[in-house]
Amino acid sequence: MQTPFGHNHERGAVVELTPEQQAVLDGARGPYLAKLMRWLVAWGEAMGARRLVRVDNTHALLPVPNLMARGASRETVEQYVAELREACSYRTAPGCYCTVHTAFVTLDPLDVPENDPEQVRLQKELAELAAQAGFIPTFTCAPYLVGNVPLKGEICAWTESSAVVYANSILGARTVRHGNESAIAASLLGWVPEFGVMLEENRKGTLRVEVTAHLDSTTDWGALGYFAGKRAGLGIPVFHGVRRPTQDEAKQLCAALATSGGVSMCHIVGVTPEAPTLEAAFHGAVPKDFVLFDDQALRETYASLRNHTGDEIDSVILGCPHASIREIAEIASLLRGKRVAKGVRLWVDAARATKASADAMGFTGVIEDAGGRILCDTCPTNMRIPARRIVTHGFKQAHYARSMTGAEVIVAETGPCIRAALAGRWLGDD
Ligand code: F3S
Repeated sequence: MQTPFGHNHERGAVVELTPEQQAVLDGARGPYLAKLMRWLVAWGEAMGARRLVRVDNTHALLPVPNLMARGASRETVEQYVAELREACSYRTAPGCYCTVHTAFVTLDPLDVPENDPEQVRLQKELAELAAQAGFIPTFTCAPYLVGNVPLKGEICAWTESSAVVYANSILGARTVRHGNESAIAASLLGWVPEFGVMLEENRKGTLRVEVTAHLDSTTDWGALGYFAGKRAGLGIPVFHGVRRPTQDEAKQLCAALATSGGVSMCHIVGVTPEAPTLEAAFHGAVPKDFVLFDDQALRETYASLRNHTGDEIDSVILGCPHASIREIAEIASLLRGKRVAKGVRLWVDAARATKASADAMGFTGVIEDAGGRILCDTCPTNMRIPARRIVTHGFKQAHYARSMTGAEVIVAETGPCIRAALAGRWLGDD
């Protein structure tokens, strides 16, 4: 049976457990781990998995929910945090490399109501507990930029849809899209149910995308992903005719694919480790039909995420997914000796580890001297920072900023984003 979740598996199958797994399920390692095991088994059965396999690498969410600033009771937040404290009272599975996804606050001082001091205090406490449990508290949506770079074939349990696409498509690792609970369970138990793109037969391309557009900037690759994600849905697009992307371009492609669609992986012919040819990407049978991404489609995709009714702006948000050191260097070079317009917030989202590098290399100082800041651990979308009109180089940021905060958005390449920040208004692409 072909389903969006896999091609050959009946949903509702029975997960066969090893004696060791059955013992955990029966409570041999205590009621909490038995509960996590029940979740994994139930999820696996719902998704058609036949077994649980050893997991090498996880990327889990350990966030204090940003509810207090919106009037949620302290009890509600405490209850949620208590669950995470309990999770962090165990050790991560031996040999499993476990990193942590973004939080809803920054651990740095930031004077906005959304960075609620009580929430920050709890998040810091959880960061410490997580580190003691064996997690590396990276607080980033791009773990592959800060050391978590699984090898081809590694079995992963990653949250963050953009990182999932990157892991499968660029690194050749294997992970389905995980939620909070399943990634924590996988981290502590060391197993994951095997289904979807973890299985060879489900990594076959489903949509051929012929690319003739000139992809000249990092954001252009985001446009390609946004276009293809919409058409691929839960399938696996295969890109043919494109050159090899840079790491930043691949990051934008993967993020946008997971934003407009539910894509878990793509093939870039000649780049994805298991897709040296078009035939290999489709496991032999290359479809004759294809969708075309040409220069007109590129222009139309940009236009689809520009809904501004005026040119004055109040926010320029860069680094979605979290910026690489190369992106930060580029932003610093565009800002050196200049000043961001009054009333404009220029934030570059990045992992704390990347910012530490930027601090050491002097890039942070240049960005701050210009009136910008590097925002660590989170991003404005996660924080739900209100804005009226946002300019961003990330298709994912533009998509969610519009849908979650109601802001007007303009997606553009990095250069025009910086020019807008300096002028306080959108000046166009050139
Ligand atoms: Fe990361 Fe936030 Fe974008 S979590 S992928 S910077 S929406």
